[in-house]
Parts: sequence; C-alpha cells; structure tokens
Amino acid sequence: MQEKYTPGYSSNATNFMAKRSLDTHGAFFKPYLRPGMKLLDCGCGPGTIALGLAKAIFPGTLTGIDREASQIQIAAESAFTQGVSNANFLEANIYALPFADNSFDAIFSHALFEHLQEPTQALRELWRVLKPGGIVGLRSPDWGGFLIAPSTSELEKAFYYYKWLQQQNSGNPYVGRELRALLRQSGFTNIKASASYQCSEPLSEATEYLALRIEASAKVDGAIEKGWTDERSLTAMSHALREWSQHPDGFFATSWCEVVGYKI
Ligand SMILES: C[S@@+](CC[C@H](N)C(=O)[O-])C[C@H]1O[C@@H](n2cnc3c(N)ncnc32)[C@H](O)[C@@H]1O
Repeated sequence: MQEKYTPGYSSNATNFMAKRSLDTHGAFFKPYLRPGMKLLDCGCGPGTIALGLAKAIFPGTLTGIDREASQIQIAAESAFTQGVSNANFLEANIYALPFADNSFDAIFSHALFEHLQEPTQALRELWRVLKPGGIVGLRSPDWGGFLIAPSTSELEKAFYYYKWLQQQNSGNPYVGRELRALLRQSGFTNIKASASYQCSEPLSEATEYLALRIEASAKVDGAIEKGWTDERSLTAMSHALREWSQHPDGFFATSWCEVVGYKI
C-alpha cells in the first residue's frame, strides 16, 4: 500500500479545512501556548489553525509545514493578508523534517495522523526536532464515534465507503483512540488525553464535502476500474448524503481525540 492523502486538494476539500480555527479545533492546546515560543505545525493545510497559533505565541515564531505546495501557498498568502508577521510556511514531509535536532519548544498537528501509514516514524521525527522539555499536541478524528441521525442504509454505506477509501490509502480512520498509545510508545511522558465532539451545523458543510469526494472517487481513486464500486452506487451514496443534509432532524457529530505529551 502507498500512503495517499484521501481528501485531496480540490477547492471543496481545501475550503472545508479552511473553516477551522484555533478556537474551534485547537482549543485543547491553547493552555500550553506561551508568548515567545518556537512552534511547529505539521500538516498545516490552508493554515487557518496555524495563524491562530502564531497570534497566540507572538512574538514567538510559528512554522507551518505541509507536503503539498498549494496548501503552503494558501497559508502564506493568508498570513500576508492578515498581517501575521511571525508565521512562515514551507513544503516538507513529516517523515523527514528539514530542521535541526532540538529546534522547537512545541509541536502541534491537527488532522494529519489519520492519513499516515507510519505514525511511529512520524513521531520519531517530531521527537528529534522537539527540544528536551518540549510539548507535542495531536488531534485526530475517530470514525468509531461518529453520531449520525436519522440513519438509512444508503447513508451507512456512504460513511463505510469513505472510511474504506481512507484505509485503501493507508490511512487509519480509528487512529484517534490510538494517539495516547502512539505517544507513549514513542517515548513521550506526562501524557494527557481528551476528546470532544464537533457538530456539523449546517449539516450541508460536511455532507457536500463527503458527497463530492465520494463522486470523485471514480476518477481520483479509479474506484470503478478497480471494481470497488459502480456508478449507480456512487450516485446513490452521494444522493443519500444530500438528502440527509435537507432532513429537518438531520444530526451529525464528529468525535475528535486529543493528546499532549512531553519530551523529558
Ligand atoms: C486534513 S488536512 C489538515 C489541515 C489542517 N491541519 C487543519 O486541520 O485544518 C491534512 C494535511 O496534512 C498534509 N499531509 C498529509 N500527509 C503529510 C505528510 N506526510 N507530511 C506533511 N504533510 C502531510 C496534507 O497535505 C493536508 O494538507
């Protein structure tokens, strides 16, 4: 299997990520942020959380890395537009960070570990670039805790299919519950775990993202050629998501798992 980032970089996916902020998605890490820190954000995407981090540690410096150039460009442009002068962004892979040992006071990574084939290898790299005494904070969803109502068999199929796509791409939709163990096994100590729910409001924000990604899987993943599904099933799943988004009682909540740990 080869690691592939399932959401991709369509405007649909990027806009979906760009709705996030430090307050909505990074609150668990805020108590550990201090002015003057040197902070790394791994897999920063379009950088909306990263800019919040940069503001919180000013006059410290925030470095955001992502392996995708288009995301780095969007993040850097947003920093410029918003006048955030203490953030810089560069293209890099979490498995081979272009930084010296013991470079950062803190490292944050949001919604990346569920896409990694080798999370332990990534944590080894975070350990290397983190200063002794430094803190790491990770947050990832766990699809085992998603709440979906009212459910139908087509809707269940759509969620199952998306999860399955992520697994085919070497990701782990259930990594959230494993983050604590991954940190401990990588040598981090004083670990604190927490979890929270995000309710999609309006529902269409999440359903449209999922529907478009499922439809795109014919082309992006070669899903029909590979015999994973057929055109009729793809249409039925995206239709179920869109119908659900219009349901007056539609409810969707995503479970997120969070951990912090120290390199001592
Ligand atoms: C789901 S997005 C999260 C973006 C942002 N952290 C947020 O939560 O809004 C995950 C990001 O991780 C990046 N990514 C995936 N694999 C990576 C890797 N091996 N090294 C660095 N970045 C990676 C992707 O390009 C993508 O932009």
